[in-house]
Amino acid sequence: MNNLYQRNCLKLLDFTSSELKKIISLAEKLKKNKKNNQEIPLLKKKNIALIFEKESTRTRCSFEIAAFDQGAHVTYLGPGSTHLGTKESIADTAQVLSRLYDGIQYRGHNHRTIEILAQYSRVPVWNGLTEKFHPTQILADLLTMQEIFPNKKFNEIKCAYVGDTHNNMGNSLLEAASLVGLDLRLVSPKKYWPEKTFFLFCQEQSQNKKGRIICTENISEGVKNVDFIYTDVWVSMGEPEDQWKDRIESLHDYQVNSSMLDLTNNSNIKILHCLPALHNQETKIGKSILRKYGFKNGMEITDNIFQKHQNTIFEQSENRLHTIKALLVSSLLKTIDF
Ligand code: CP
Ligand code: NVA
Repeated sequence: MNNLYQRNCLKLLDFTSSELKKIISLAEKLKKNKKNNQEIPLLKKKNIALIFEKESTRTRCSFEIAAFDQGAHVTYLGPGSTHLGTKESIADTAQVLSRLYDGIQYRGHNHRTIEILAQYSRVPVWNGLTEKFHPTQILADLLTMQEIFPNKKFNEIKCAYVGDTHNNMGNSLLEAASLVGLDLRLVSPKKYWPEKTFFLFCQEQSQNKKGRIICTENISEGVKNVDFIYTDVWVSMGEPEDQWKDRIESLHDYQVNSSMLDLTNNSNIKILHCLPALHNQETKIGKSILRKYGFKNGMEITDNIFQKHQNTIFEQSENRLHTIKALLVSSLLKTIDF
């Protein structure tokens, strides 16, 4: 019996370290099989509901393609298209959907909503991003790190996460580091550090895995000798527009640019970004925010650094598919060969 069968994924700490590694290693196999045209559809006759209260490109498409590749069907329930939370409670929606579907993905504004969905659902519930956590993103990030350094254990990998470190990505990276023992540095002004109790919990747990987690305001200390610099947008989906001013004032020194890369002392530095990225003015938001605040060459990451490192970043993005597929397979199949 597969002990991940019927399990929820609301956050990474729902898993043990070895369960997390199992999912990553399954993703590696599924990726190889797909590339070699040897994929076996294991999820025939499964139906999956995809609830999205916020926009998405990667997460939605990865859940859909993962399901299609494996022979499952999906229903996309976009913003405003169900009664959820307006005319029907979260509990009732969970009971209805879980009688129809074999699994439910939820992306939304409020982490509490997914907790209630999971409480009343008879089938696995997967978090496709809330304001607190983004676990499926980190599955892809860990796979990407492992592919780049196949001979390094996770606790030998050094990663600096710079920018808004108190967002869903910061929290989920902390969880990952506590489970697999990364050397993780959260680099930002103190007021953007993660919630203290949660940080201390993850820090303590990571020591059991020979990991090291720090928060620092000091950029040189944070990025020195790292293998990866990871960043994300400074204002996340669902946050008010008026946050931009303060974020930019506080975070502009934490932009990923060539001066920051020089401080790593690592000519083979790799850059990660969960995307979407504000690295140029070729989007509506990019144009208006970058112009308004006088940024010429990207916001959280400069365009030249983004372009130079785009292969890693887009591989990371592709890995959303393979890892989400591993999550679906591992939670929907009673038996599976990892
Ligand atoms: N990284 C990520 O979750 O992308 P989407 O918002 O496009 O799903
Ligand atoms: N912190 C970002 C992540 C996007 C994938 C957001 O929540 O908008």
